Amino acid sequence: MALKAEEEQFLPSTPGKFKDKWSSGKNRQFYRCFASTSTMFLWALFLVALTAAYLSFQSFVDSGNKFFSAACGGAHWEKQIRSSAQIHRHNGFAVLVTGAAGFVGSHVSLALKKRGDGVVGLDNFNNYYDVSLKKARKSLLNNHNIFIVEGDINDGRMLAKLFEIVHFSHVMHLAAQAGVRYAMENPQSYVHSNIAGLVSLLEACKTADPQPAIVWASSSSVYGLNDKVPFSESDQTDRPASLYAATKKAGEEITHTYNHIYGLSITGLRFFTVYGPWGRPDMAYFSFTRNILQGKPITVYRGKNRVDLARDFTYIDDIVRGCVASLDTSKKSTGSGGKKRGPAQYRIFNLGNTSPVTVPQMVGILEKQLRVKAKKNVIEMPGNGDVPFTHANISSARRELGYKPTTDLQTGLKKFVKWYLSYYGYNNGQSVK
Ligand SMILES: NC(=O)c1ccc[n+]([C@@H]2O[C@H](COP(=O)([O-])OP(=O)(O)OC[C@H]3O[C@@H](n4cnc5c(N)ncnc54)[C@H](O)[C@@H]3O)[C@@H](O)[C@H]2O)c1
Ligand SMILES: *[C@@H]1O[C@H](CO)[C@@H](O)[C@H](O)[C@H]1NC(C)=O
Repeated sequence: MALKAEEEQFLPSTPGKFKDKWSSGKNRQFYRCFASTSTMFLWALFLVALTAAYLSFQSFVDSGNKFFSAACGGAHWEKQIRSSAQIHRHNGFAVLVTGAAGFVGSHVSLALKKRGDGVVGLDNFNNYYDVSLKKARKSLLNNHNIFIVEGDINDGRMLAKLFEIVHFSHVMHLAAQAGVRYAMENPQSYVHSNIAGLVSLLEACKTADPQPAIVWASSSSVYGLNDKVPFSESDQTDRPASLYAATKKAGEEITHTYNHIYGLSITGLRFFTVYGPWGRPDMAYFSFTRNILQGKPITVYRGKNRVDLARDFTYIDDIVRGCVASLDTSKKSTGSGGKKRGPAQYRIFNLGNTSPVTVPQMVGILEKQLRVKAKKNVIEMPGNGDVPFTHANISSARRELGYKPTTDLQTGLKKFVKWYLSYYGYNNGQSVK
């Protein structure tokens, strides 16, 4: 509206006035030059040709460069990457963490940096949820000397450049389009990041010399409509209930191909509902907290036959330990000559908590810790991709990774709420942000 009014200001209020100005005084000679139709035609032709030449040059420059952001490249950029990748422990790793401005990625980056590994982040800072939260995580990482490259995993040229600057020993791949319900709104974003982006990243890893070992995030959602509990890695995973789940399942198949053909060492981690400080605002525990504090009602879904939904909520610190243990137990990629040197490693692990909690129980814990009663709207779950329950069998991760979750939902949500109140400025009962 405002823009329209502004535009109108620059249009002449009466056509007559406009003409008067052109035909009078010092503009007369210039006007005469345009006056003959043939000259005008030539001028028009010249302008069209100029525009066409410019456009074709632009598209030439842009081709194969679709995602290369202006922030990438240059001596300073490379210096920041090198310094971020510096290793400060004996036999330490150099790890590329994709999705480093995300919830899990920021925590894993910090944990690796703290023990002396070199860490370079990569994130496209997309606006699926509040970008300022991603920027705040980035500042936190910057304070610990971790640099996050701003770029898309679909940008093959940028990835090649990164692998040229740093010989990454490992890639922790956490960049993805997350969320189950959003897939009905924007299905292409799942294909872009979870399928095309994954292939682009694997291509870069395959070509890199040395090839890095890869650990990446799949999801418990691949268990889809299964009702045999707990979910074990060997259970069938061919009945996804959402496009998100389908793209994660596709990722497991795609990574297997790259393992088989190119000898890439691959570990896929099926995370179960990860929560905690610096979490994702689109997840229920987070948005419930916000609404409860603002006195707004929350929508609690209930399954068929009035059965409560349940989730195997897993605290972020437990997930981080599982991710780091996966990196530590990764074998080297064997390259295309894998046949001679033995097959490369391919693993899949559940990372859960093994104690599902119902959503109403989760709300009860939040109410107690926030000291506010929630206004609950209980409705039957629409068919939007959510599954009724999840429950992880973690015996495989326990055996191979020494994975042992130690945080129950009560303890973990307490830490989340503490972070939430401080981050959003609820100190002394006053809201700042
Ligand atoms: N949090 C959970 O409960 C959960 C459960 C199962 C699986 N996972 C998986 O774990 C991983 C991390 O999840 P999260 O909760 O931290 O999510 P998140 O959205 O906070 O983090 C993902 C990050 O990746 C970035 N990103 C997305 N597409 C990108 C692209 N094309 N190029 C570059 N960066 C891109 C986003 O900007 C974001 O910062 C994801 O793969 C997710 O699917 C998470
Ligand atoms: C858990 O998974 C292991 C394989 O890692 C399997 O042997 C065991 O039977 C499973 N436990 C249950 C209760 O399903």
